[in-house]
Amino acid sequence: MSIKGFIFDLDGVVTDTAEYHYQAWKRLADELGIPFTREENEALRGIPRRESLLMLLKGRTYPETTLDELMERKNRYYLEYIRAISPRDLLPGARELLQEIRAAGLKAALGSASKNAREVIERLGIADLFDAIADGYSVTRQKPAPDLFLHAAALLGLPPTECAVVEDATAGVEAALAGGFTVIGIGPHERVGRAHLVLPSLAGVSLSKLLEQLSVSA
Ligand code: BG6
Ligand code: MG
Repeated sequence: MSIKGFIFDLDGVVTDTAEYHYQAWKRLADELGIPFTREENEALRGIPRRESLLMLLKGRTYPETTLDELMERKNRYYLEYIRAISPRDLLPGARELLQEIRAAGLKAALGSASKNAREVIERLGIADLFDAIADGYSVTRQKPAPDLFLHAAALLGLPPTECAVVEDATAGVEAALAGGFTVIGIGPHERVGRAHLVLPSLAGVSLSKLLEQLSVSA
């Protein structure tokens, strides 16, 4: 098997926006008088905005227009928090790995469920390191369905068997496995243990070492 492209999730892999998503949901939950903890937020990793809101509401029902308003409000808070994002917010190793991938003539795509993904990579100063972008606007069925990653691979012009997906969320790992991708999980085993290779972070991860660990060559 040979890997010719990498598809990176954004939140929690390239940058720690997971914390900003938490802050924004927490502010909304506080306003609604709904208890919401950091632990509960863990279950929202990789989960799209609407589904996250429904999980946060824990069975409380609201008219559709109110749900829309609540999602807009959360996103307003999130946008407030990410306004301060700069290249300093890149997680260790992310830029270096992307640069190595490009230098080796391999392809890189973004595969994020976020509708704010483009804005975030612009602010991080890494937009030009991606050959293709699949985001929260790209497909209807979100992770754990494989559609977003399949779309990203198609944009790269590569079959899933020639792409590795880098993910920090359980839903993302499942999506990549369902699509027939090689999967690199970032984070604890309890969360990403089903990936083919599990790493604590991208810090110090070189392309050659990664391909060696995956027992594949470019
Ligand atoms: C994912 C995050 O990348 O994007 C989730 O892990 C988030 O926490 C989802 O809910 C959707 O993001 P956005 O920016 O479209 O609300
Ligand atoms: Mg993520």
